[in-house]
Amino acid sequence: MPDHDPEAARQRYAAVDRYLDDLYGPGDPALEGARARAAAEELPDIAVSVNLGRYLHVLALACRARRILEIGTLGGYSAIWMARALPADGRLVTLEADGRHAAVARANLEEAGVAALTEVRVGAARESLADLEREDVEPFDMVFIDADKEPYAAYLSAAVRLTRTGSLIVADNVVRGGAVADGPSEDAGVTGVQRFNEALAAHPRLASVIVQQVGDKGHDGMALAVVTG
Ligand code: SAH
Ligand code: DHB
Ligand code: MG
Repeated sequence: MPDHDPEAARQRYAAVDRYLDDLYGPGDPALEGARARAAAEELPDIAVSVNLGRYLHVLALACRARRILEIGTLGGYSAIWMARALPADGRLVTLEADGRHAAVARANLEEAGVAALTEVRVGAARESLADLEREDVEPFDMVFIDADKEPYAAYLSAAVRLTRTGSLIVADNVVRGGAVADGPSEDAGVTGVQRFNEALAAHPRLASVIVQQVGDKGHDGMALAVVTG
């Protein structure tokens, strides 16, 4: 029984992800290529799953996003899914601390034909976010938070400042195998996400929900928040 055997549960979740991948077909060759290049370049295997990439794509379409901000690029996999939802004059800015990850992402975004719509900014996200605020850029319609977990609450504050009423803020990895429910943690990533979740739930300008998810990466979840007036 999945409830009693975590490994059996994980295999079951992975089987459904494979089923969903078959259901939708192989999809876009550039997306598969991006995963392959990231693996060949030995980037960490922590991109969103195929199915959650599709989820981000649908969310970007649902909020008619014309400007998207991503915090945590890795090899550009989630960025391609979201960029595929942009109109021809859309823009995606994605922030990445690691120059090697950013180089792989740029190659993948180029291969996917979305390089002209996208900008990979290399640097610590907190600094890049402060730069964006200083530049007084047009508000983003959607923000995807998916970088280091300890400063997640700070990323949320910046995301609110860089959006407008009606924008959508999404954050990955806010359940962490259920560890968020276990009380105080020694893991700075878990406590960072707990602080994020508390800030999200208490935020006067955010209508939000945290959704548990399972899949080939096990058990985690995403937060969805709409900025209100
Ligand atoms: N969104 C990607 C996965 C991102 S993994 C996808 O689904 O395809 C997290 C990324 O955040 C890694 O590439 C890591 O290098 C980057 N990162 C970690 N700390 C960071 C920081 N402080 N500023 C910017 N990027 C950071
Ligand atoms: C990690 C980061 C992620 O963004 C993710 O989706 C899974 C794992 C990590 O840092 O371990
Ligand atoms: Mg993630």
